[in-house]
Amino acid sequence: MIRVSKPWELSENQCTPEKLYLDRRQIIGSLGLSCGLVASGAIAKPPAPDLPLVAKTSKWSISDPATPEKLATSYNNFYEFGTDKSDPAKYAHALITRPWAITVEGEADKTGTFSVDDLIRPDELEERIYRLRCVEAWSMVIPWIGVPLRKILARFEPNSKARYVQFETRFEPEQMRGTRWPVLDWPYVEGLRMDEAMHDLTLMAVGMYGRHLPNQNGAPLRLIVPWKYGFKSIKSIVKIRFTANEPTNSWKKSAPREYGFYSNVNPKVDHPRWSQATERVIGGGSFSSLFNRRDTEMFNGYGEAVAQMYAGMNLKKNF
Ligand code: MTE
Repeated sequence: MIRVSKPWELSENQCTPEKLYLDRRQIIGSLGLSCGLVASGAIAKPPAPDLPLVAKTSKWSISDPATPEKLATSYNNFYEFGTDKSDPAKYAHALITRPWAITVEGEADKTGTFSVDDLIRPDELEERIYRLRCVEAWSMVIPWIGVPLRKILARFEPNSKARYVQFETRFEPEQMRGTRWPVLDWPYVEGLRMDEAMHDLTLMAVGMYGRHLPNQNGAPLRLIVPWKYGFKSIKSIVKIRFTANEPTNSWKKSAPREYGFYSNVNPKVDHPRWSQATERVIGGGSFSSLFNRRDTEMFNGYGEAVAQMYAGMNLKKNF
């Protein structure tokens, strides 16, 4: 891992005091999962939005120029705050992101309720520049910061029956005004097959552009599955459930003819109402849409790393 210092990196004296950090480590112990929530009592306030997040650079980053941050944080899909692209930036500030508990259940030996601040270990953070390809045929390039999901899931010791994992978003109508309307069957849920969840590309993100995630982008923690359509990258997660059978996912539930479980980016399988062959590059800079379109790549360009998982599967049927 090459560690490149960034201008925004914390200097020594801005870091968490070592004692505080070590005390927390001790309580957490070999995960100390049962007392996760209690241990985090000290950090009940959300991180300051402009506090820098330190992360190692990752071999998985692509070299394309990042989408301007302003666009990535103002053109969003987060239906819990409304269906317009501008709604999340307007309304997501109402979501209270600390304390934040995540319940882990199902086919695993270590289940329970944990605090986000105990699940995310600062020394495991990586910065990865990924392309996010939305099913609506647009894409952005975003420098995410997060922990490979496999590192987090392994600590729960999933058992041999765990073939899938399901994720659930917070459902809090008081704070999430969009959930007062039945646009989707709330809470928003998503799922992955176990090998997909454990793939090194799959990231549990807590930051972007060198800082903590803004609420509209899924604070305090959200999934990023870069070879799949953006709707698999579920935001503001409160539940992780290991299952034996394929779990349901919100978009498939709402329109099974249009959205599947796998949702791998595939330029050859069109959405029933539009083509997936090309995509609009958000912020790809020009007055004419002719100049900011690109050809969609199979598995969003990550084929070499992931195609093997689908060997022998009919991807037209399993869309
Ligand atoms: N997660 C929840 N809980 N609710 C949503 O509406 N939208 C999805 C995904 N995660 C969504 C969600 C879709 S369709 C996309 S394209 C991405 O979030 C958008 O992520 P971004 O706003 O950070 O670009």
